[in-house]
Amino acid sequence: MKQDNASSPDRLQPVFGYHEATKHRFEAFARGPGYLDWATQPDPFRRYAGARLIALACIEPADDPRYDAIFTPGLQPAAAPVNLRTISQLFYDSLALSAWKSTGASRWALRVNASSGNLHPTEGYLVCGPVKGLCERPMVCHYAPREHGLEVRAEFDPDLWNRLCAGVPAGTFFLGLSSICWREAWKYGERAYRYCMHDAGHALGALSIAAAGLGWQTRLLDDIGTEGLAALLGTSQVHDAEQEEPDLLLVCMPMARVPPLPALSAAALQACAALAWQGQPNRLSPSHVDWGIEAFAARLRQPRTAGAYETFAMPPRSCSPLPRAVALRRMIRQRRSAVAMDGETRIACETFYRMLDRTLAAPGAVPFSTLPWKSQLHLALLVHRVDDLPRGLYLLVRDPAQLETLQAALTRAEHWRKPPGCPETLPLYCLIEADARNAAREISCQQDIASDGCFAVAMLAGFDAPLERYGPWFYPRLYWEAGVIGQLLYLEAEAAGIRSTGIGCFFDDALHELLGLQDRRFQDLYHFTVGGAVEDKRLTTLPAYTHDRDVVV
Ligand SMILES: Cc1cc2nc3c(=O)[nH]c(=O)nc-3n(C[C@H](O)[C@H](O)[C@H](O)COP(=O)(O)O)c2cc1C
Repeated sequence: MKQDNASSPDRLQPVFGYHEATKHRFEAFARGPGYLDWATQPDPFRRYAGARLIALACIEPADDPRYDAIFTPGLQPAAAPVNLRTISQLFYDSLALSAWKSTGASRWALRVNASSGNLHPTEGYLVCGPVKGLCERPMVCHYAPREHGLEVRAEFDPDLWNRLCAGVPAGTFFLGLSSICWREAWKYGERAYRYCMHDAGHALGALSIAAAGLGWQTRLLDDIGTEGLAALLGTSQVHDAEQEEPDLLLVCMPMARVPPLPALSAAALQACAALAWQGQPNRLSPSHVDWGIEAFAARLRQPRTAGAYETFAMPPRSCSPLPRAVALRRMIRQRRSAVAMDGETRIACETFYRMLDRTLAAPGAVPFSTLPWKSQLHLALLVHRVDDLPRGLYLLVRDPAQLETLQAALTRAEHWRKPPGCPETLPLYCLIEADARNAAREISCQQDIASDGCFAVAMLAGFDAPLERYGPWFYPRLYWEAGVIGQLLYLEAEAAGIRSTGIGCFFDDALHELLGLQDRRFQDLYHFTVGGAVEDKRLTTLPAYTHDRDVVV
């Protein structure tokens, strides 16, 4: 995609200003409330009162497809037909509740998609034509995770739908995401915008993986512009509840081969704003503190753009071992964050290499095939407990074209050595051999989970160059990429019989210093830890949905 027109040198200042201001530092955390105001705790569930609710089926996981199959060309499942059951499955495997937890009088829901602080700022939408068993007319629906249902926000007249979808292959439908930033800001203050965008990335990854389980392809439609998206999802409708900031639109294609992506007509998108929108959104908190995030998000809205992102070529996957007897949907629905790591569990280096290999955007590789830009994130790895690998700091270069820039920027690297036994095509380098457990803990806001796992990750994004090339609206996309990697790492850990946790609390510049990064060519956007979890036995786990509803086994 070409640069947006606003080419003045200071067009990026709001982004750089926000990014600097929201760094956690040893001396001071980013501006936040400093305590939890329970009286204004946001409702985690948005509902549109008065909108018709269509119940979806709860389809319990079976053995097929295998987890590894969706990542392996030739083993991916055949495309399922689009109907009530498969749409139900798509949401059940991506944005639905996965369990309820309780202790004492407290009870809270967990979801398939991870979220910082379990606050879930991300809302999901379905935009579809007639679907067997679901609807006879094209419609826009808001997904209600507590009910596992679709709230019909608007129906299209056939003429507008045909104008909107001219040239779109039959069976294609759309999935939208929006964010209610207040949900995160309530707890995390100014830094919360970052977490909202991580969470949008987790949801995007979850949708892409769930769709792949049905043999469907998802692609980000990243040229319609935020205004058009707001009109399509109905988030431009004015009300006195918390506003939703539209994030992104995926096109979901029930076919093995991806045709050229549709170009949605700007005029038809704008006409959606005048649909007969149904339902009143609930207010999530009685009052709010304004951390300036909504205004910041508004400055990052994407103009309608033309052209294409720069193309890129990644070599094919380095290893495609035989699929393990691990069921995709069991991994998806059992995914949990570790609240503590045991400080003992080790993994084989083959397991480590397999996980890293999965994070590469090889041609057609789920879930990265959903993103249209070339990989911008690299993984700095603090290896603690991996068999046959010395402890130390490693780097996975997710875009080999960036190797020289990284070598110039990371001035603390002692060497760039491929670890012995590392697959030839895995761009992994050992930079420093050392016990990095203390560093991992300290940098991740003193959290033991970062030092007690098998390895910790810091996701390092190309920063100045892509922002200058594309414009401020690319800032959230860097976090989406981080969130997609995170959602995948969660599943990779489950599939390997261990656990993981996203870490949004870290001291940004401390990591930069460890690497010897002295400028903004790269910035640390997200941390992760992977290891053997210690279970919290104080909590009771309850099913996500009770069996008085339609549970299909
Ligand atoms: C963007 C992001 C940042 C997170 N940061 C932290 C963190 O700093 N420390 C932590 O213990 N957990 C962190 N988590 C884990 C969440 O608390 C966890 O996902 C949430 O409680 C929901 O639980 P679940 O993942 O088991 O569904 C983070 C998760 C995400 C997605």
